[in-house]
Amino acid sequence: MSGRITLSVIKADVGSIAGHHMVHPDQLAAATKVLAEAKQKGTLIDFYVTHVGDDLQLIMTHSKGPDHPDIHGLAWETFKAAAKVARDLKLYAAGQDLLSEAFSGNVRGLGPGVAELEMEERPSEPVITFHADKTEPGAFNLPLFRVFADPFNTAGLVIDPKMHDGFVFEIYDVYEGKSVLMRAPEEIYDILALIGTTGRYIIRRVYRKSDNLLAAVVSVERLNLIAGRYIGKDDPVAIVRAQHGLPALGEILEAFAFPHLVAGWMRGSHYGPLMPVPLRHAKVTRFDGPPRLIALGWNISRGRLIGPVDLFDDVAFDESRKLAQFITDYMRRHGPFMPHRLGPEEMEYTTLPDVLAKLKDRFIKSEDAYKVVKRHSETS
Ligand code: 13P
Ligand code: 13P
Ligand code: MG
Ligand code: MG
Repeated sequence: MSGRITLSVIKADVGSIAGHHMVHPDQLAAATKVLAEAKQKGTLIDFYVTHVGDDLQLIMTHSKGPDHPDIHGLAWETFKAAAKVARDLKLYAAGQDLLSEAFSGNVRGLGPGVAELEMEERPSEPVITFHADKTEPGAFNLPLFRVFADPFNTAGLVIDPKMHDGFVFEIYDVYEGKSVLMRAPEEIYDILALIGTTGRYIIRRVYRKSDNLLAAVVSVERLNLIAGRYIGKDDPVAIVRAQHGLPALGEILEAFAFPHLVAGWMRGSHYGPLMPVPLRHAKVTRFDGPPRLIALGWNISRGRLIGPVDLFDDVAFDESRKLAQFITDYMRRHGPFMPHRLGPEEMEYTTLPDVLAKLKDRFIKSEDAYKVVKRHSETS
């Protein structure tokens, strides 16, 4: 066993109660049973099972490193057990994110979302895991940029000598499957030129520049790209390490106080505010949303998961939630209009091609349309 610990957060939507609303307690119990057995066998050091909305979240520690077939196999087996419960109870969209029947060593590309961070445990290792529903990986671009590159958010960039050199961002192009490493603060305008396109360029990892310490990891799976058609969304997760030469807990959470607009609400096809909520509100009711985010605080101690603390369970985030409610009302009043509804290139399921096919022969020159109507009005 190496001294290095890996924190693996692997999630999937394998069915939910009464719509795309929330994971059923029996699914959580089934998942807990599988992981408890794995902990007993020594595959895992520790684990925690939770959900945000309809996404089942497996938080696991082990010493096998990222992308390990034992861990990915375990996650797959766990999702299958929870999907079986979903089928037995006839829950909605049972097995939604399990795109393949066959597991071949790694869950990437099969549907689940994955964020794994291998670390040499620091003397104290504070970590936050973020889990979102009804949005996509690019939802983390804005807040993570602010955490690691904006001194108006993160005082430590100015004040803390260990952070003062800045951070390196790995930005992943989900269409090409390629990454570019970019340095902040030197290249922040170029970084923003990419990551403002949240559906394509995703902040995948962030490193501290002074020693290449891995500070953050985001899941980048985009289910609709994997499957080539709409089969549910790529509700993302992220891991961020905190304190002692990294952004403080409060600097990290501060970036989420602004409920920015993200894609993925209702049928994966609408923009809405990302609302930071405590676990008890980690369910989506209004127009299947608005998009939700939970943040769990941990200390990792020789691989053990100490926690969680429910970080958005704080009155200090009440005004953010109120603003998100206000934005919810405002956006909803646009109904089927952009920019509440996504643009046609981004729509995850849409009737537009059918409507266009149906109207193909009815598209004529505007002058002709004018003449047709005029003729009708004169003869009637
Ligand atoms: P550390 O340097 O101890 O991580 O903490 C700074 C801090 O938390 C101030 O808010
Ligand atoms: P999920 O991707 O969370 O299953 O949601 C589907 C959806 O868009 C419901 O409106
Ligand atoms: Mg669902
Ligand atoms: Mg979901």
